[in-house]
Amino acid sequence: MRTVEWVEGGVRLIDQRILPERLETPLYRDYHAVGRAITDMVVRGAPAIGVTAAFGLALAGFQCASSEPAAWQREVQAAANELRQARPTAVNLGWALDRMLKTLAATSGHPVAEARQTLLAEAQAMAEEDIAINRRLGQLGAALIEDGDTIIHHCNTGALAAVDFGTALGVIFTAHAQGKRLHVLVDETRPRLQGARLTAWELKQAGISFDLITDNAAGHFLSTGQVQLCLVGADRIAANGDVANKIGTYPLAVVAHENGVPFYSVAPLSTIDLALPNGAGIPIEERTADEVLGLQIAGAPVAPAGSTARNPAFDVTPHRYLTGIVTEKGVARPPYQHSLARAVNG
Ligand code: MRU
Repeated sequence: MRTVEWVEGGVRLIDQRILPERLETPLYRDYHAVGRAITDMVVRGAPAIGVTAAFGLALAGFQCASSEPAAWQREVQAAANELRQARPTAVNLGWALDRMLKTLAATSGHPVAEARQTLLAEAQAMAEEDIAINRRLGQLGAALIEDGDTIIHHCNTGALAAVDFGTALGVIFTAHAQGKRLHVLVDETRPRLQGARLTAWELKQAGISFDLITDNAAGHFLSTGQVQLCLVGADRIAANGDVANKIGTYPLAVVAHENGVPFYSVAPLSTIDLALPNGAGIPIEERTADEVLGLQIAGAPVAPAGSTARNPAFDVTPHRYLTGIVTEKGVARPPYQHSLARAVNG
């Protein structure tokens, strides 16, 4: 089953808010609801968000009712503007919509019925490409893993974060399939626990050895020689190699660097934003305080009533803490201005 797919004239998603407790796959027939599903994190993970937005726009193409091509095009463009607002940090969202709008522009003057199918075909192509790219990332990244390695992984970058297979976790799946013995230390990833709920669920199904650790335990494992490699994904990578990823990635990278443990980000080229010279320009989503305060332990809230909280969903890891960035064009190394530009522009 794919994380996102087009079925029966709508967009089907795996509802990631309720995993691993229940596996539910709601079908969306309204593009406004697809946008809300991205905002509410029914679907999450940079590549998955991008393809979901693309299918959402294809859905908008069927919903927009004008039969006159120019009026229909304007309606679809308005839908793209709405979908673009769903979440700010993962550049894959805007990347996917820009690609869909390019396709839309190429259908200018075509009959609406034909243009609708063209938009859907583009979204379908993006979904297939996502899987092929992830398999390539897996092959390239697996070469970084030695037999017997213990790897720290942050957030969820597996099949659930993409259309299928995943990025950093896809590297781990590939190394495992190659017969390498490995062990994964899975950061819980507060506050939404993508590590505990989603990554542990995927690793369990794949039969890969892992232990769940609290996010603040990573330093202990890194400083006592128990970790050989750190693998994370990315939501947006600036031209100089600064990486925005799930909150907690930055301190993990600093401690890995301090202890001489290699730290790689694994991401498709669609996550690289060459328009931003460095990470300072990356918009960091701040989500509701309820995600921090709402956690209960033994049925009781974790903080006194009336407490306030801050909840940035991402942080930026300066490029100096990275050993490399695995893309489908190879492993980019410093200086990233050159290696990333070469990868993106061919
Ligand atoms: O808030 P999320 O769950 O969408 O954040 C996801 C991450 O930060 C992932 O690490 C990133 O998108 C890479 S997923 C292949």
